[in-house]
Amino acid sequence: MQQDYQEFLKEILIPQEQLQARIKEIADEINRDYQGRKLHLICILRGGVLFLADLMRYITVNHTIDFMAISSYGTGARKSTGHVRITLDLKEDISERDVLLVEDIVDSGYTIASVLELLSTRHPKSLRVCTLLDKAVRREIDVPIDYRGFVIPDKFVFGYGLDLDEYYRNLPFIGAVDPERYQPPD
Ligand code: IMP
Ligand code: MG
Repeated sequence: MQQDYQEFLKEILIPQEQLQARIKEIADEINRDYQGRKLHLICILRGGVLFLADLMRYITVNHTIDFMAISSYGTGARKSTGHVRITLDLKEDISERDVLLVEDIVDSGYTIASVLELLSTRHPKSLRVCTLLDKAVRREIDVPIDYRGFVIPDKFVFGYGLDLDEYYRNLPFIGAVDPERYQPPD
């Protein structure tokens, strides 16, 4: 049985309306910056899917999408090791394209740093980063962030694509976990 999120929800950090309003603002910025160009959005699975789906609905410049998956750590762990592995590579070549990476959250920064390093070897015309959440106080490696939704405090969050042991990604808001009351699935 899956625990009801209300049992361990400490607080709703970002409610649905605020998320959507901010995503629209980010899309407006992107629309201005990429005006007259073709954009290639790369979503990092799986946490970024809800953000990508909402963001692209507000993006009016012509764009294509692709996906990649990396694994930074397994179920139960709460911290990046700095070792990331590609588990699903892009379908398309990115050389000479204007690439924008779409991520759910930048925490230590290791994931984005490795992805940027890897993708830059494929010679995109430009390569930028868009993250919904920025847990800035936890940064261990400097990464350039071109578009950010919200800077959040050092709390473990879930919902809107972000998981707690792979569940609760469907919730329409960003919530903070009360670790005392959360029971991991067996
Ligand atoms: P980084 O490599 O430390 O920057 O970690 C980035 C990845 O860790 C994100 O793409 C998320 O998958 C995961 N992550 C970091 N913080 C959280 C959190 O508070 N909730 C859920 N996932 C998180
Ligand atoms: Mg992720």
